[in-house]
Amino acid sequence: MTNNKKTLKIAIAGLGTVGKGVYDILHKDHNIIEKRTNVRIEVVGVSSRTKKDFVNQNIKFYDDVIEMANDPQVDVVVELIGGKTIAKQLIFKAIANGKKVVTANKALIAEDGEEIANFVDKHQGILLYEASVAGANPIIKAFREGFCANDIKEVYGILNGTCNFILTKMRDEEKNYHETLKQAQELGYAEADPSFDVEGIDTAHKIAILSALANSSYPIFEPKNITGISKISADDIAIANELGYKIKLLAIYKNLGDKIQQSVYPALLKNNEKIAQVDGSYNAILTLGSNFEWNMMIGRGAGGLTTGSAVVADIIDIACQRFNKSIFNVDLSKLSHAKTIGLNERYGKYFLKFIINNEQSNQKNLIKEVFGEKIKIKQVTYKKTTQDQTLVALITESIIESDFEKVIAEVSQNLKGINFIRVEETKF
Ligand SMILES: NC(=O)c1ccc[n+]([C@@H]2O[C@H](COP(=O)([O-])OP(=O)(O)OC[C@H]3O[C@@H](n4cnc5c(N)ncnc54)[C@H](OP(=O)(O)O)[C@@H]3O)[C@@H](O)[C@H]2O)c1
Repeated sequence: MTNNKKTLKIAIAGLGTVGKGVYDILHKDHNIIEKRTNVRIEVVGVSSRTKKDFVNQNIKFYDDVIEMANDPQVDVVVELIGGKTIAKQLIFKAIANGKKVVTANKALIAEDGEEIANFVDKHQGILLYEASVAGANPIIKAFREGFCANDIKEVYGILNGTCNFILTKMRDEEKNYHETLKQAQELGYAEADPSFDVEGIDTAHKIAILSALANSSYPIFEPKNITGISKISADDIAIANELGYKIKLLAIYKNLGDKIQQSVYPALLKNNEKIAQVDGSYNAILTLGSNFEWNMMIGRGAGGLTTGSAVVADIIDIACQRFNKSIFNVDLSKLSHAKTIGLNERYGKYFLKFIINNEQSNQKNLIKEVFGEKIKIKQVTYKKTTQDQTLVALITESIIESDFEKVIAEVSQNLKGINFIRVEETKF
């Protein structure tokens, strides 16, 4: 019997968390992969700054990673270095040389997506990036294939496991942000420099990619619509809990007709909403499609094998020639430049918190006196913090954010420590 199995030759750039995960999966799961694809996936080259003991000595090591993009024996370059310098050079070189590319690089796709889409199109290349959003959850495949017959109306994502882990611990153990961050770092859930995660940048990269796919537009990365979790206090979480809410770092996409909302901020969600129940380091993506209503995907969003699983899925798609040439799912000529709303245009509810002196007047009248008809209040709670002071927290009815901020500016003279967090309702 002849063995007519084809071989796909790949080179892995970057052997860190994800690179090692990919290498390990291709080694330990090669039987199942070959059975399913009838293709032998062979790692013919690797590159990293330092050589790794776990790599078979017979595999070529490139001191200069760009060389793998020039190597005629390589069919697929797997970029797992990250960042926008050497990784970008490598991808462009590989595409220009006719190699297919698989990457997990969300920063690059989100921030330089337009340039990349143009380049890939010009060279009729293939670039797959499933691992860039939500780890093992096949959400990009879902947007490109499974949900393809739908107008994607809304997306709510918990897309950063570090933030979800911190917010969950703060709530469960009634600890403050800094204490919990330290614990997350000790347990390996947060980086030594956590700013990329906790300030919402990582989440913003991911929602930029999902928005592009949902809206058939180039990715947009706008720092103005990004807020992280570093200012969330133990009090915020405790009082939200008292009112029946959890706080989550949410990535949001909404199709508003001629504009989109694309933003990242901590938001209160009612405890009984399904996405609010996704705790710990898990990711979740809740999608509202025009034909299927709500769909929610939950699972691990980071880690070597988890992310590696998505990278290898892309490699397998290449092995089986199952790929869509348009990087954001429609031909370049049909990709639009979306217009986003500023958060001042957001229409929604707010959680508002401030401090009053106990002798400042009857508390119930005070709320009426201060806000009158300008902001309608849905729920309110009072917590005496000292002999003299009471913390007031309330949930408003829906209002345009710029109108809400005007009222806050007017009353902030008389109320100490006033601040707010947005409230989201997913109806699922
Ligand atoms: N970590 C995750 O769970 C996760 C999840 C989703 C997506 N991603 C994305 O996956 C990518 C990789 O992330 P990671 O966490 O695996 O990063 P990492 O652990 O820091 O690994 C980066 C690798 O790149 C190598 N490298 C750096 N500069 C290089 C150069 N000039 N030439 C060759 N190799 C070079 C490093 O070499 P040394 O080992 O010698 O330092 C290291 O092996 C990033 O785009 C990230 O956003 C990561």
